[in-house]
Amino acid sequence: MEAAHKNEYSAPVASPAACAVQRLRLRNFRNYEHLALDLSAQVVVLSGANGAGKTNLLEAISFLSPGRGLRRARLRDAVRNDVARNDVTGHDASPVAPSGTPSVAPSVDWAVAATVQGPDGLIKLGSSLARTERGTDRRLARQDGETVSPASLAQVVGVQWLTPQMDRLFLEGPSSRRRFLDRLVLGLDPDHGRRVGAYERSLRERAKLLRMGPGGGADPAWLSALEARMAADGVAVAAARREALSRLQRLLSTTSGEFPKAGLAIEGRIESWLAEQPAVEVESRFAAMLAANRQRDGEANSTCDGPHRSDLTVHHLDKDMPAALCSTGEQKALLIAVMLANARAEADRRGAAPILLLDEVAAHLDRERRVALFGEILALGGQAWLSGTDRELFEPLFGQAQFVSVDRGRARLEDNA
Ligand SMILES: Nc1ncnc2c1ncn2[C@@H]1O[C@H](COP(=O)(O)OP(=O)(O)OP(=O)(O)O)[C@@H](O)[C@H]1O
Ligand SMILES: [Mg+2]
Repeated sequence: MEAAHKNEYSAPVASPAACAVQRLRLRNFRNYEHLALDLSAQVVVLSGANGAGKTNLLEAISFLSPGRGLRRARLRDAVRNDVARNDVTGHDASPVAPSGTPSVAPSVDWAVAATVQGPDGLIKLGSSLARTERGTDRRLARQDGETVSPASLAQVVGVQWLTPQMDRLFLEGPSSRRRFLDRLVLGLDPDHGRRVGAYERSLRERAKLLRMGPGGGADPAWLSALEARMAADGVAVAAARREALSRLQRLLSTTSGEFPKAGLAIEGRIESWLAEQPAVEVESRFAAMLAANRQRDGEANSTCDGPHRSDLTVHHLDKDMPAALCSTGEQKALLIAVMLANARAEADRRGAAPILLLDEVAAHLDRERRVALFGEILALGGQAWLSGTDRELFEPLFGQAQFVSVDRGRARLEDNA
């Protein structure tokens, strides 16, 4: 048994055409005051008691991609509590790592820095939260020492995740499914996040103008220009979703093995128009719809239709059952099937499989499916981070993964650390 616990992994460092975190440094991130972890394996298993910091560590890695991380928390919530309470701005200003290793600007409230192997070689990435002079929070991103926009991180490295919160994905309203879909699309089309952001900003700006009311001074020409931009961005968003979904669908229909075949579809007005008409025509039709609905949208204080209302539907094809009516385990298996297909599509598309963050995924699966999942991950060739309270669940990976034990905000590489 002891030998089986040894952490002499034989699966090599992720293949050159894969994204992998090789060095990770955290500072003042949730329950980590400092963390330094150097990795060399394709699969990393985090184990530790409830509350040890496993999800926090995965969340930190999720900040190497655009957005609000895998918890979608307020950025300030991730500031380590002691710091948030005592010393928001004046804490220890030493960089997160010694010189020569990835580091981030000292004046930040939390910081994640990593050396990541990407399709084009090693890159130093940093992500942090800082407070601007005007007292607002701002997420900062750095790439090889230069400040970059967080949205551009998607160009460099793909990160996808599954978390226990996503167990409710098929039972909740459409917004979380839409976000899930958009994150899948982002892996295949790194510019997608920027376009979604631009569309949402215009959406908010239009709502603000319409709140002024027809006589409130909103210049119709300005509104028309804004709606034209919204239509262009919105149609681009919808087209990218359709394109990504058809790639995914092709891969999903050829899935074999332990994970179910999933049927994906988008329910959305703009997406369905795109099935019938060329994009330029859909753009004018969308802009005309926005113009016609100004009064109604103003009264409702929301834009009644557009890609911000679309939904992703998932069907368990083998059982001919909508995902919402499947068992918890079946829903998880569907999500895993979609995630694996997406990782394969992303590997094809950008020449590198994404980093997968699978929080407590193993706990939901019977042994057969667990072994199948580990096999699929190893075959994909990208880096995967798996977490669980019970390291025995990962027994099929003994000798093939690096095991990290996490305990009260400290993480230690086991055995051959
Ligand atoms: N901003 C923060 N500062 C300090 N501690 C925090 C902060 N945010 C969360 N924590 C704490 O971090 C601890 C670890 O949380 P995490 O979710 O990573 O645990 P976990 O190892 O995933 O546990 P579980 O097995 O229960 O999922 C929790 O006790 C949580 O209260
Ligand atoms: Mg957790």
